[in-house]
Amino acid sequence: MSNRKSREIRLKSRPNGMVKPENFELAEVTLPAPGDGQVLVRNAYMTVDPYMRGRMMDRQSYVPPFQIGEALTGGAVGQVVEAGPGAQFKVGDHVQSFGGWREAFVANGPELMMQKIDPIPGVGIQSYLGSLGMPGMTAYAGLLRVGEFKPEDSVFVSAASGAVGAVVCQIAKAKGSKRVVGSAGSDEKCAWLKEIGCDEAINYKTCGDLNAAVAKAFPDGIGVYFDNVGGAHLEAALGNMRQFGRLAECGMIEQYNATDMPPGPRNMILIVGLSLTVRGFIVSNHYDMLPDFMRDMATWIAAGKMKWKETIYDGIERAPEAFIGLFRGENFGKMLVRVGPDKAV
Ligand SMILES: NC(=O)c1ccc[n+]([C@@H]2O[C@H](COP(=O)([O-])OP(=O)(O)OC[C@H]3O[C@@H](n4cnc5c(N)ncnc54)[C@H](OP(=O)(O)O)[C@@H]3O)[C@@H](O)[C@H]2O)c1
Repeated sequence: MSNRKSREIRLKSRPNGMVKPENFELAEVTLPAPGDGQVLVRNAYMTVDPYMRGRMMDRQSYVPPFQIGEALTGGAVGQVVEAGPGAQFKVGDHVQSFGGWREAFVANGPELMMQKIDPIPGVGIQSYLGSLGMPGMTAYAGLLRVGEFKPEDSVFVSAASGAVGAVVCQIAKAKGSKRVVGSAGSDEKCAWLKEIGCDEAINYKTCGDLNAAVAKAFPDGIGVYFDNVGGAHLEAALGNMRQFGRLAECGMIEQYNATDMPPGPRNMILIVGLSLTVRGFIVSNHYDMLPDFMRDMATWIAAGKMKWKETIYDGIERAPEAFIGLFRGENFGKMLVRVGPDKAV
């Protein structure tokens, strides 16, 4: 019999304002043997994502809230270590699932949206939680479909060195944009953005007047703004859009921990005169693009046109710290937690 112990992170209390370590607790469980159709999966990596902050609040949204006293859920990649009779996966299969925030779990395939992955040689399986997974797909659908990107568009991206942002910048370049500018919260992140092809990068923490910095970076205006941040970034982007420009509203991390709704951009009136399109989206409504996304990503990776960074925290007990770090810019690229060996069997 294999070891069936697993540690998991539970929601202890709902955060009020900035999420804190004491909102979480670590617990150990002993898993049952997998029954009919079930498998026991040992996770190698789990993801922490900004949207999980919304699930910590007791409100209805496009995903149900996490429950106090229960283990959180989220994306994970791992390996099947035991299979029950009639299971659709074999021992040794690599799978991605929604069974994150724990070291191991027992489930059948559909329960946790489990899917087999065939790792691409030279690309770690954790990439299925980042550039080859949900964040990459968000970048692809958000820029190409929601932002209706065309090669003549100049593109401004906020949180540009992050999991979604870095992919947006590189897709825009790979698809022929002549001007891509990203903003990020450190000089190191900005230097890397130039390495991956951005024409300019703005350190929003040191640039002073963000509106003026964006105006300087886009003398002919912005064609598409890919918004990951909201707030001051959104106002600066609105102030510098071209006529018929599009704003792909992907996220507004600046206000995920806010206790009061901050006032909106003061220059919304520009949407009218410039005939702008402002469109929010949720990636799960765009998974019909998945085959195109996987094909294009494989081509760009092979051509050296797609690079990404990862920040990896070791140990399930560090998952809360990794999650909190997202709101402090402590991740350089995709924030991940390694919860077990890459190969469990
Ligand atoms: N619509 C969808 O379906 C969908 C799907 C996935 C993600 N998203 C959204 O996409 C955005 C990026 O997600 P991600 O997973 O790629 O995260 P990420 O960019 O890898 O990590 C979050 C980054 O946001 C920046 N940040 C944090 N607080 C900030 C603040 N107050 N002002 C400005 N920047 C701040 C930090 O970078 P700096 O060091 O640069 O500040 C941090 O590293 C989030 O808003 C997320 O909610 C939406």
